[in-house]
Amino acid sequence: MTPIWSKKGQSGADEEIQAFLAGEDILLDRYLILFDIEASTAHALGLRHCGILSSTEYEKLSNGLHRLKELIEDGDYVLAPPHEDGHSAIEAWLTENVGDAGRKIHTGRSRNDQVQVATRLYLRDRLQQLVDINRAIAEAALDRAEQMQDWIMPGYTHLQRAVPSTVGLWMAAFAEAFIDNAMLADFTRQWLDNSPLGTAAGYGVNLNLARNVSQEAMGFTRLQINPMYAQNSRGRFELQALSALAQSTLELRRLAWDLSLFTSQEYALVRLADRYTTGSSIMPNKRNPDTVELLRARHAVVAGAVTELQEVLSLPSGYQRDLQATKPPTLRAMEQGLAALRLVPGILRTIEVDKERAEAMVDPSMFATDIAIEAAISGIPFRDAYQSAMAQDASSRSARESVNARVSAGGCANLMIPELKKRLEALGLEDK
Ligand code: ARG
Repeated sequence: MTPIWSKKGQSGADEEIQAFLAGEDILLDRYLILFDIEASTAHALGLRHCGILSSTEYEKLSNGLHRLKELIEDGDYVLAPPHEDGHSAIEAWLTENVGDAGRKIHTGRSRNDQVQVATRLYLRDRLQQLVDINRAIAEAALDRAEQMQDWIMPGYTHLQRAVPSTVGLWMAAFAEAFIDNAMLADFTRQWLDNSPLGTAAGYGVNLNLARNVSQEAMGFTRLQINPMYAQNSRGRFELQALSALAQSTLELRRLAWDLSLFTSQEYALVRLADRYTTGSSIMPNKRNPDTVELLRARHAVVAGAVTELQEVLSLPSGYQRDLQATKPPTLRAMEQGLAALRLVPGILRTIEVDKERAEAMVDPSMFATDIAIEAAISGIPFRDAYQSAMAQDASSRSARESVNARVSAGGCANLMIPELKKRLEALGLEDK
């Protein structure tokens, strides 16, 4: 297929080189094409406002774009070669289906701002999904914290038994982490909520394009003003979006670690629901936590993509074709990261904790810190109390008393679940 950039009388890149230049674009643009259509509709509106399109032409284009959107949603149009990318495919479809108006859609825009605005809309959408998923994880963890609030379990540091703790405290830790992750995703969404459309190749155009009209049509809260900055920001916003995602997958990695340890026979504290486990092809006795292990590995995809983006972003001002290389890591990490996080609420809601065993794992040596602090309360300098604590007989102490005395903010006896719930709800309220 003749590329949209081909000029009469000049051959340009041959087929082999064109294939190299296009890379995976045509497949990856399947994630972006609906956003590209939304932006193209907004651009047509901008062109209508500055008189480039008549109202009939605008109607034709916006109806055509709407039809193409429906075809894609119904699976009746699939982006594929010989189109080079989603941008040229949209233009080709319009020209074929709405006639000459289709040949006007690219007035005053470049694929440079077109890919930017489509990516921006994609990131805004996926960050909202990240907010929602983080919130769902926090909610599940909070429900489990509430339900197992006072179930005793050992608290570990260095993976060594440290002090008596509760399942409630363990779960509330993840609830708070994922509330913070939701906040970060939300800030990030707001940070990149600006419209680059109308900046063209990076230097503006000699048209009084209604940039604010297209911005508002797409629901962006502000304009990205400087056209060169619009190009320079390619990859920057992607990087920040993936960094927000990485905070979630990093915490997911920790949770998956805990679950893989706690489901082992050595701990035998937690049981995963059947649907998350697999058997072994050779060992009939096995019940493996493959799902949580692959969740743990998912952070590697996101962290790898962050590094890949950072490596690509060593560029001078303005558009460089290198920037196309920001697309694969961004889409790969975002899609795979979100898909992993989506499984977490279900896992949390279905884990079973062995209540008796968890309590029985607390041994008397774990009361030593309580003993030292009690002595300090009675006036003995803590350093002396620390020295003598291990010599005292702790066999009559109970883990229940120990956790019940942990009353400071956030401690086992004061998890502050209502406060965490309030933070969770506040996040919901700020949402658009
Ligand atoms: N696929 C290209 C990208 O992602 C589209 C922009 C092409 N622009 C250009 N000047 N060659 O960057």
